[in-house]
Amino acid sequence: MTVLYKADPVRGALWAERFAQLAPEIQFRVWPDLGDRAAVRYLVAWQPGDLALTLPNLEVVFSVGAGVDQLDLSQIPAHLPVVRMLEPGIVEGMVEYVTEAVLAIHRDLFDYALQQQARAWQPLPLCAAASRRIGVLGLGMLGTAVLERLRLFGFACAGWSRSQHDIEGVACYAGEAGLDAMLARTDVLICLLPLTDATRGLLCRRVFDRLPRGASLVHVGRGAQLVSGDLLDALQSGQIHSAVLDVTDPEPLPTDHPLWTQPRVRITPHIASATRPESAVDAVLENLRLHRAGERMNGLIDRTRGY
Ligand code: GLV
Repeated sequence: MTVLYKADPVRGALWAERFAQLAPEIQFRVWPDLGDRAAVRYLVAWQPGDLALTLPNLEVVFSVGAGVDQLDLSQIPAHLPVVRMLEPGIVEGMVEYVTEAVLAIHRDLFDYALQQQARAWQPLPLCAAASRRIGVLGLGMLGTAVLERLRLFGFACAGWSRSQHDIEGVACYAGEAGLDAMLARTDVLICLLPLTDATRGLLCRRVFDRLPRGASLVHVGRGAQLVSGDLLDALQSGQIHSAVLDVTDPEPLPTDHPLWTQPRVRITPHIASATRPESAVDAVLENLRLHRAGERMNGLIDRTRGY
């Protein structure tokens, strides 16, 4: 039985090591070293292209990342289960990134950076964490973990999702009406939604206008969820005070894009978090076990819903 990996080859070598240690009975191959196509039962990929169509005995496609929007589902036979990556390494990185961004916003570091450039020594009023309202879009594994950490600082935490969730100490909102209600009480909006037809362009003027004036955005979902012209307008008018963007559309962001030079925008090159080979192999091995036992795999996506 072969597990075929088609993604970053440097990390692939780490996957191979871990597979050899933990499951020596499985042949782990890194694309383009396919071996016998007929032996490939599992494909782990970032962008498989049409590879899945050429493997006659393929049983499951695993995304190497938390998102599956980069997979072209029309190139994956309809009967094959598709699984996204749920592993603790991605969660830890994301919690770190978002926590840092929220604290930087909360402690006015964007304003202080500008003051430093102007050599201005000007203390700003402190705001207690309990008075800072955080709103997270997307309550999957990542959104939930981020909220659980932010709660520890005492922030007033809320989260929104398509369906109703229940997280201790977090005001949970759901559905279309719930979205407006959460936005109205959100000073720092964090986007951790998957990219689907329903979320493409979601971060637009309509959403910004529903936030209290001077709110901030932390965007760690997908670039195509943000209408960047609307963000630039909102920054210009003061409706949005600052933004931390780890994802853009396109990536990389063109060098002449106006977002680069916005004084209160911080851009990072899609590094908020990444799959960690060690814990990812453990997660995949557990899913192989579940699959072989005929049980439901962790992170199995609903192909019609897109996540
Ligand atoms: C990265 O963005 C991922 O989907 O893991």
